[in-house]
Amino acid sequence: MTSRITFEQHPHPSPRPSADRDAVLAAPGFGRHFTDHMVTIDWSTEHGWHNARVEPYAPFAMDPANMTLHYGQAIFEGLKAYAQPDRTAALFRPEANARRFQRSARRLAMPELPVETFIEACELLVRHDEAWVPHGAEQALYLRPFMFAAENTLGVRPAAAYRFMVIATPAGAYFSGGVNPVSVWVSEQYVRAAPGGTGAAKCAGNYAASLIAQAEAADHGCDQVVWLDARERRWIEEVGVMNLCFVYGSGGDATIVTPQLTDTLLAGVTRDSLLTIADELGYRTCETRISLQDWQSGCANGSISEVFACGTAAVITPVGQAKTSGAGWTVGDGRPGPVSLRLRDALLRRQTGLEADLHGWLHPC
Ligand code: COI
Repeated sequence: MTSRITFEQHPHPSPRPSADRDAVLAAPGFGRHFTDHMVTIDWSTEHGWHNARVEPYAPFAMDPANMTLHYGQAIFEGLKAYAQPDRTAALFRPEANARRFQRSARRLAMPELPVETFIEACELLVRHDEAWVPHGAEQALYLRPFMFAAENTLGVRPAAAYRFMVIATPAGAYFSGGVNPVSVWVSEQYVRAAPGGTGAAKCAGNYAASLIAQAEAADHGCDQVVWLDARERRWIEEVGVMNLCFVYGSGGDATIVTPQLTDTLLAGVTRDSLLTIADELGYRTCETRISLQDWQSGCANGSISEVFACGTAAVITPVGQAKTSGAGWTVGDGRPGPVSLRLRDALLRRQTGLEADLHGWLHPC
């Protein structure tokens, strides 16, 4: 992959000793340990994208007047590099993340990083930190590309300078409970996104605004929050930081139903991959509106057999129980269902090169 930008490469003079690295890789958790390198590219109105480099992972100084700290121009992505059977590493669908990053940048009035530069930055980081790609089941190297304003002023306007970076963290299961089902709280008080807002952008503010509802869910004994639409508080949108899918029917006759994309939903790459795989496995798929009432009655009458959350970090997480202020219900028998587990396994097999890469989703590094 070539791009117009040339990256300077400064390998770490003293990377973490392999014994320390192996200790991390034995139980990586999620987002707790970072690899030896990071990628940085600067942007300014004067020079455009410039000063691209791979260098040792290190903290950096930030001026107290940095605009990000005040007005929140900050976007990010999440994607994974998976160990392949031949011990190489491959990124999963980096182009999809690069394109979504451009859409997020547009919404936040930030400059768009060329797709090929985004991919090259991720590729270079994986190459420098290949030893950090875990090989265990369910493990991967999670890459976090992000961009923030790099100008120091209190004027309210798009910044005149930005910084793009990629860091990486070895990742095991996102939820410490593994593939155990989660319980969800349907928030009637808070919304994640409103029409015309930033819901379809992966911007930091969306995540900050979600935390209080997540705390509300925890106060009600639930693991995650389910978001309803802002206008009617009736239509299901997302769960926590993930998309949501409903399995109607069972076995080979199952239909996977997921909320259709609007400007209040994040277009998940995992969501898209699962819809494609579901189709290939012979399930019907349907993107439409699903109401809270549909969910509750579908579980009561048995037409909904499984519900699962999906996202890059957690892949597929079954939903076992749901609760609102006035009701609570169990999905199926409350345990991970066969369709969710089959889709999860099929996606992981694609990601780890155990099954044919029919769509060119794997990007060797
Ligand atoms: C992902 O699944 O990559 C996410 O966006 C979750 C992340 C915020 C931890």
